[in-house]
Amino acid sequence: MKPLRVGLLGFGTVGSGVWNVLQRNGGEIARRAGREIVITHVAARAADGSLERARAACSEKCDGVTVLDDAAAIVHDPSIDIVCELIGGTTVARTWVLDAIAQGKHVVTANKALLAHYGTEIFAAAHDKGVMVAFEAAVAGGIPIIKALREGLSANRIEWIAGIINGTSNFILSTMRETGASFSDVLKEAQDLGYAEADPTFDVEGIDAAHKLTIMASIAFGIPMQFDKAFAEGITKLTREDIRYAEELGYRIKLLGIARRVHGSVADKGIELRVHPTLIPEKRLIANVEGAMNAVLVKGDAVGPTLYYGAGAGSEPTASAVIADLVDVTRMHTADPEHRVPHLAFQPDQLSIIPILPISEVNTSYYLRLRVLDQSGVLADITRILADHSISIEAFLQKEATQGEDEVDIIILTHLAIEKDVRTALTKIEALKSVKDKGVLIRMEGLH
Ligand code: HSE
Repeated sequence: MKPLRVGLLGFGTVGSGVWNVLQRNGGEIARRAGREIVITHVAARAADGSLERARAACSEKCDGVTVLDDAAAIVHDPSIDIVCELIGGTTVARTWVLDAIAQGKHVVTANKALLAHYGTEIFAAAHDKGVMVAFEAAVAGGIPIIKALREGLSANRIEWIAGIINGTSNFILSTMRETGASFSDVLKEAQDLGYAEADPTFDVEGIDAAHKLTIMASIAFGIPMQFDKAFAEGITKLTREDIRYAEELGYRIKLLGIARRVHGSVADKGIELRVHPTLIPEKRLIANVEGAMNAVLVKGDAVGPTLYYGAGAGSEPTASAVIADLVDVTRMHTADPEHRVPHLAFQPDQLSIIPILPISEVNTSYYLRLRVLDQSGVLADITRILADHSISIEAFLQKEATQGEDEVDIIILTHLAIEKDVRTALTKIEALKSVKDKGVLIRMEGLH
């Protein structure tokens, strides 16, 4: 059978990984796919040196590969079956993906931002054209979480997902806990080691994780991609004190992406879609995922909790996911489009319009740290305000005052409460004369 012809857009970390793994394992991959998968064209940029790298790789290992700096030429080349978009961003990548679809080509992409923002448009175009858009590499790098959610767990009603889906943030939080260093010092170390970008905003502000969570939630619950409704709070304000106090109470703080189905009295009330630093019990397996690794915990009603762990980024781990998609497309491209696995797991006319709940409506537990005067009646005032808002206390910790100081830190862990009630209570607590600073609020999940 004729090989399937792939045009690679981008020859950076992931693109070169795809090239290398296909060169190394091509024979084995063809045995799985049923035919050979060959990269016939590569588009790369001269400005960042990737064009030169692509030329060198291609001339070393293989003749007959066209390397150029013109992605549009590849997208419009009728000899290409699959366009593999590994450029990133939401501008030219969107144009080329939509153009490739319009040309009747299948698309494999690792671009989470593109799908989180424009997934609805892209999948609708692909459906109309009868082509596949595969995106395993867009979420959690090498972990086959899209495959698990879309196919492996298809018997289940998915109840919730909780994931460590940003390796940079996890590296920073792990190092802060291990060394007691501050956020800014560890960020600098992460940048020096190449874990964090020069502009780390997307990673440390939870935006990258929110892109990935948006995609997973869509597949898990059969809802459209709604990145604009996802809540994202990053790790930049976390202090080493809070990490230490959490540890003393038996918790770790992780940047979690959480998507949860919330039941109403008769039907689903909505979906929680939120990324934020989260206290989780240290005895949970996911609490012990350290460094730049990723992990996703998925709770299905039939299977119970399942945990997926692995490298969330990197050249060959991400290439592993991209090539798995190339194999899937190769196996399925002759199948009737109506009988392929739907892009978002559910049939396109079966997507649901369950609302995404605002963060104020989220029902979870909280860690509150308050700086207060060490004198009688202070605790009574605070607990009265909490009780007035039906917020029940699960645990309490008071640190001894340092010599010569009349202020202490107190830490309160609450039972489940609605966030808007906790915020209202906190505002009232902060207004007490005995409370000396803004309180720290960190959400907490048992992950039972
Ligand atoms: N920047 C991401 C992370 C990897 O730190 O996990 C690519 O999604």
